[in-house]
Formats: sequence, structure tokens, C-alpha cells
Amino acid sequence: MLKENLLDYLKSSKDYVSGEKLGEILGVSRSAVWKEIRALRKDGYIIDAVTNRGYMIRDVGDVINSAEIKTNKLIGSKVICFDEVTSTNEECKKLGLNGSEEGTVVVSDTQTSGRGRLGRVWKSKKGTGVYMSILLRPDISPVKIPSVTLCAGLAVCQALKYDFDIDSEIKWPNDIVCGGKKICGILTEMTGQLQKMDFVIVGIGINVNNEDFPDEIKDKASSMFLISRRKFKRSPIAKAVLERFDKIYSDFSQNGFKAIKDEYEKNCINIGKRVNIINRDGGFEALAVEVDDNGELVVLKDNGEKLSVFSGEVSVRGVY
Ligand code: BTN
Repeated sequence: MLKENLLDYLKSSKDYVSGEKLGEILGVSRSAVWKEIRALRKDGYIIDAVTNRGYMIRDVGDVINSAEIKTNKLIGSKVICFDEVTSTNEECKKLGLNGSEEGTVVVSDTQTSGRGRLGRVWKSKKGTGVYMSILLRPDISPVKIPSVTLCAGLAVCQALKYDFDIDSEIKWPNDIVCGGKKICGILTEMTGQLQKMDFVIVGIGINVNNEDFPDEIKDKASSMFLISRRKFKRSPIAKAVLERFDKIYSDFSQNGFKAIKDEYEKNCINIGKRVNIINRDGGFEALAVEVDDNGELVVLKDNGEKLSVFSGEVSVRGVY
């Protein structure tokens, strides 16, 4: 707490602040202030210390901490950061079961058992990606939960595109792709009964500074670094996604998927293209026409039949 308060104060002051003054404000000794300054430096903050003037933050490294990520909105109002967890979805689930409020976010520098969709593993190398999970308590029918994932996909797409100049698109339902390769995946998990869910966890994994990928996925995966040849600080990315998600989720909660449908479709790579629908009986090709009000993909088969495809039951591979 002392470290966080000190950080908040230093971040809000434009000039040097003496150790004595900081001690007074925070109700601790000057040596306690110095100890926390050292801890902040270890975290990655670059703090100048000048005799007779005091301390000032000069720069922030690639730190993962609450002070850099939390927002003043519902989503991200409380952010809990870890150096290492098994899975942020798992940590967030514990918070959900303990009654934490909607909008609480868990972020970690690395995951030892990051989970992907369809039981896959989400490789979560330390210091390279954004691994975060958002706790939601939406007042909607469980059948509409897939649309929440679509909201999160749109938030990531907008943040990468408008805030970080990464030309990303959504591959329905919720992969974010760039130059045909995946740079973000989203795993939504629900807790409760089918009729009445307790809460939803939206887990987001973004490949940020990865310089390479294992052979088995390197044709399909990419990162913000590989696309732009720029290195990024991860906390501002997490924060931008949370801020965009807050707006999209609020529009969605009030007016349903139709509130964000146009924007989603505008960013969705599949619309107007031929797609390959893969289901349990094999698959078929069709033209993707739109995303309907339930977030389902409407496709037109070659025999003229129109049908809606539900994100949970098929995977869609673009034919492009
Ligand atoms: C996918 O397979 O496309 C979904 C990947 C989701 C990965 C994220 S990383 C943060 C959160 N915690 C997890 O264990 N998984 C999600």
C-alpha cells in the first residue's frame, strides 16, 4: 500500500519532491520512503534522486502493475497483478467465488498453465505478452455470453489499431489477426448454472514482444513486435484494452449486440468472404454475410440456404 501511495504521489507531481515531504504525506520515515524508492526502481521505474531537491519519476519501464493499468471506469477499477500464476482465468475465478465486484481484473507477467480454447495451451512467456482476465457479472441470459467475447475481441482490435497503430482485424468469433496471423486469443469461461450464471471470466492473451514462435505455430502466430518491429510496454496496452472494453461492454449491456454490430462487422475479416465451416460432420464452404444480434455468424450456402453458426459449435477457417 505504501509503495502504491508513493507511486501515485510521485506520478501526480510535476517537480521533485523531497524525501522529508513524502515521509510527512505518507506518515512514514525518510528511510522508509527510500526503501520504497529502491523497490520501485527494481520494478522498472526510473526515478531521479537529486540532493536537496528529492525524487522525480523520469520514465516507466515495461512494468506490470496496478498503478499503470487501473482505470477510472467500471472495467479495470480494481487491478490485481502477479509475477506468476497458473492461469489468470483461474485466479480471477477465485476472486469471483469470493464475491469480488464486476470489473475486477487479474494480470500476470507470466502463466505456468495458460489455457487456450478447445483445451489447448496458451504459451505465456515471461515479460512478452499481456495475460489478463476480467471478472464480469452480466445480467443476461447465458446464451448471450458468446457475444461478451465478441465485445472483448472488438475492444482488443480497436485498442491495437487506434492506440498502437497495429493494423489488426477480428477473425470471427474472437481471434485478433494481423497479416493473416493470430496475435491475440480470448477464452471466456462461465460459472454457475445454465439458467442462472454467477459470473463470467473473459481471459485475454496478446502476443506483444515475442520475437519468435515454436515451429508448430509459427505459420499461424505473430506478435505486435513482429508486425511493427517496435517493442511495446505492456501495461499501457492492457489499460487501453480495458478502457475500450468498458465502453463497448456498457453499450452492449444496455442495448444488446446490435449496439456494436456495425463496428464489429467493419473490423471482422470474414464478412463478405468465403469461409470454411468445420463442424462435427465435416464441413462446408459458404459466404459469410453478417453477424446477427446474438453474435452468431450468418452464412449463405451455395444452395441458397442461409444459416446462423454458433461460435461454440464450429470453428471457422477463412478461405482467403
Ligand atoms: C485461444 O485459444 O485463442 C484463447 C487464448 C486465451 C489466453 C488467455 S491469456 C489470459 C487468460 N488466462 C488463460 O489461462 N487464458 C487466457
